[in-house]
Amino acid sequence: MKSLKEREWFFSQEKEEFVSIPPRIIYNPDPHYDMYRLKTTRQLVADINLDFNLGLDTPFIIGAVADMHFNVCNQDDREDEELVYTEKCRKWPENLKWAIPAAKALEACDFCDATVVLGDTLDYLSNGSLNYTKANLFKKYPDAMVALGGHDYTKQMQTGIPDKLPLEERLNILRAVWPHDIHYYSRVLANKIIAVVIDNSQTKYLPEQIEKLEADIARAKEEGMIIFIFQHEPIVSKNPAESCARAVIENSGAYKTTDIEANPKFIGGAEHSDEVTCKVYDLITKNADVVKAIFAGHWHSQFYSEVCATYKNGGEEVHTVIPQYILSGNPYHEAGMLARIIVN
Ligand SMILES: [Fe+2]
Repeated sequence: MKSLKEREWFFSQEKEEFVSIPPRIIYNPDPHYDMYRLKTTRQLVADINLDFNLGLDTPFIIGAVADMHFNVCNQDDREDEELVYTEKCRKWPENLKWAIPAAKALEACDFCDATVVLGDTLDYLSNGSLNYTKANLFKKYPDAMVALGGHDYTKQMQTGIPDKLPLEERLNILRAVWPHDIHYYSRVLANKIIAVVIDNSQTKYLPEQIEKLEADIARAKEEGMIIFIFQHEPIVSKNPAESCARAVIENSGAYKTTDIEANPKFIGGAEHSDEVTCKVYDLITKNADVVKAIFAGHWHSQFYSEVCATYKNGGEEVHTVIPQYILSGNPYHEAGMLARIIVN
């Protein structure tokens, strides 16, 4: 890990005001949120300042990056008919245009205290993409916590046909190289924050996650810690005042309705959620005394939402909101885009 001096030095470089809004970014001016470009190294940075009076000597800073979409098709991959077809059909991101933004965003994260990647690291599952991920993420930043996105285990990308290799076999390829459990991983940061990296990349939560999340919630309550949820897909806010998510749906132009609960790209909507997903959704949103923030990617847009939530105080139910920060896709930004989650 870099020294405090090195970390402070990197982010002390001059900042440029972030004036233009690139396509597919809808920026909600949450008061905790500050966005700028680093003048020398050029990364776009969203500072998310979260103050929970944790009594830390210095703020703990988590660098987060979403949707890097590494796509490499190498010679071995060209022996695989599925990948040959994907290489022919896949139109985005353009050849290697993702590589510099990804490298620069990760470099900047390395000047933070911890790094989290919010899914869709691979654009499609190939030897080339996986080798690139191993060398440029897992080996270079072995402590990074990496959530799973739907692209990470899909071979047929933009081809219009389903994958031939069964899902479990594709997941096993990732399990063999991932730095931690691909479906649920948690780590205590600064003795105060439990970072939960949970897989919801199949637009649902998984049965094995219930017990693990229950245990982390119980531990947080017992030991006076807070929980941050890191996942690929955002959850439904069920907030009548929600405006950003609706605007993002409208802006995408891909959906008939702007009803957020009906949109499958938000987890926990009543119409498309199974029992397990509802259970995990409830665990997150009914323990807001410890679950203090959610971070996601998936939409390739930058926006903020407040999830309606509750917690029990004695016998009484208290209503509140959990802030949910959705980060932009990375390849749109010349020198990468990261969030610095600055916790006090
Ligand atoms: Fe993505």
